[in-house]
Amino acid sequence: MIAPEFIQQVLSRVDIVEVIDRQVKLKKAGQGYVACCPFHNEKSPSFNVSPTKQFYHCFGCGVSGSAITFLIEYNGTPFLDALRELAEQVGMVMPTGINSEEVVARAKLTASLTDVMMSANQFYRRELKRSPTAIEYFKKRGVSGEIALRFQLGYAPDDWQGLKAAYEDYSMASLAECGLVIDNDEGRRYDRFRDRVMFPILDTKGNTIGFGGRVIGAGEPKYLNSPETPLFEKGRELYGLFQARRAIRDSATVIVVEGYMDVVALAQSGVGNAVATLGTATTPMHLEKLSRMADTIVFCFDGDKAGRRAAWRALEISLPTVVDGKNYRFLFLPPEDDPDTYVRRLGKAGFDEALAAAKPLSTVLFEELTAQVNMNEEEGRAKLLNIATPLIGQITAPALGLMLRKRLAELMGMQNHELANLLPALQQPRYANTAQQAGNQQKNSGNFKPNSAFNNQNKNQKKWGKKEAERGAPTLRREPMPGTSFQILAALLMKPQLAQRFDIDADADANTPLGTLVRVVHFIRDHDCEMHVAALVESFRETPDFDDISRAVNDKRYRGIESERLDIDGDFDGAMTSLKESIALKAQRAEELERAKKMGLI
Ligand code: UTP
Ligand code: MN
Repeated sequence: MIAPEFIQQVLSRVDIVEVIDRQVKLKKAGQGYVACCPFHNEKSPSFNVSPTKQFYHCFGCGVSGSAITFLIEYNGTPFLDALRELAEQVGMVMPTGINSEEVVARAKLTASLTDVMMSANQFYRRELKRSPTAIEYFKKRGVSGEIALRFQLGYAPDDWQGLKAAYEDYSMASLAECGLVIDNDEGRRYDRFRDRVMFPILDTKGNTIGFGGRVIGAGEPKYLNSPETPLFEKGRELYGLFQARRAIRDSATVIVVEGYMDVVALAQSGVGNAVATLGTATTPMHLEKLSRMADTIVFCFDGDKAGRRAAWRALEISLPTVVDGKNYRFLFLPPEDDPDTYVRRLGKAGFDEALAAAKPLSTVLFEELTAQVNMNEEEGRAKLLNIATPLIGQITAPALGLMLRKRLAELMGMQNHELANLLPALQQPRYANTAQQAGNQQKNSGNFKPNSAFNNQNKNQKKWGKKEAERGAPTLRREPMPGTSFQILAALLMKPQLAQRFDIDADADANTPLGTLVRVVHFIRDHDCEMHVAALVESFRETPDFDDISRAVNDKRYRGIESERLDIDGDFDGAMTSLKESIALKAQRAEELERAKKMGLI
């Protein structure tokens, strides 16, 4: 659990304008900043960033949030990592418990290793410029200078200790920790990558965390990769994600391929939203990362046998992670092609055509399963049931699960209910997980937990509804705040100093609109009145008040306009008066009722 104070301190030191501008160029407009919204497609800018509120809001699609929200939503960074990232930028360290000494030490190590990797990246790029052979190799494969720059392609010279030229001290331990050099048994050190064209692997911030190096021409191994290091975990990272982010957002689609050169060649042909797994199978972590950024994930595999096997593995990994509204598709290329050769042969138009014909997960699933049995015999169809059950049982997405069970019944030549009788387990998909989560959430409702986009089933597409489902806390839902209280809340968020004028005494633990107001007022009084509203909102994340507060921050009365031009005080006082009146009225009614009871009238 993170102390709300820490979140506030971080948010009071970072500047949301800087944080967003690093990734989405902002333009000054009035008191704030605007840009074309990075969360939906648009031609004229309706994405507003307010330096006073330290909040962003898009009038087009309705997204809004703090600097932390931005990192979560735009980069897919989990909550705690987003907080840590911002904290580090302003020279703060996460408090103990989250950030034990070990973690601090690791953060320091990571920082220095990142520098080491950056130097290597720069060195390899310099060397590419000096190597006609390497340049010729890329040219032959159709890679332009522009794309080479975009992917920071390089060349490791044919030299046992080439990196000596890149570092003051070639013997330092961090070179080995980064996997850039190898120490042999006699204590001699040499470069891991020699005479290879180099593909740097970047994390989502653009730091170099690893390399893939390809032999020029023939040789073994064809690709040599960085080993796993403190910076580089293969099952987590995807090649090309940093470069593809924008295109993934714009198309809401990501294409997953197998090879470095596939990503590069696709980008060269204008298909910018492709990423590659790093010589490993697709992992649930990959899918989690990608599904935060895209609605459709298309697996594109080589047309050969190995490609089909890889596709099947990816399908198996995908099943438990499917949520209704997210869409997995499979694109199989002709056996002689990989994405690189295919797109170079047929261009972007040809690839887009193939992409449009990519098969949905359900189709691939049944095609593969029915191919394994003899569908013309009852025994074969019975076997289908056996092999399909464990797979379909993993799907927790209600709509898709139901459709697949229907389809299975059809294939079996059965009625739905007959299948259901055979398979009680299939009838009831596994919701146990959700229920348990919701329970936990209720118990710890004051705690801050990183969002997990994946352990929930009933995600829908509505913005706030979706967030709520992600937190798995449907049980805490209360009716939205009524007008008067809402007006007070909105005014308080615009001008926290107004908390001093809030003079209604009420139960601070009540799960009522008034309770929410009292909690917000107490919070403002207990902390710095001058604090940015973003800090306040973040402190209420994952509490039952969060929805009301988030809506109130974007109340249309105050949208996009900075505080001094409005009569917030007047709004506040007016709403306070009517709230007090209605409370008094209620009390009066209750009193009358009580009296009537006492007098035996009712
Ligand atoms: P492929 O053998 O399909 O190579 O490996 P490719 O991408 O088509 O490469 P080019 O076109 O010949 O240059 C696909 C991916 O598998 C990993 C790499 O990540 C590669 O991009 N791989 C392959 C290795 O890690 N090591 C190898 O020796 C070969
Ligand atoms: Mn290839």
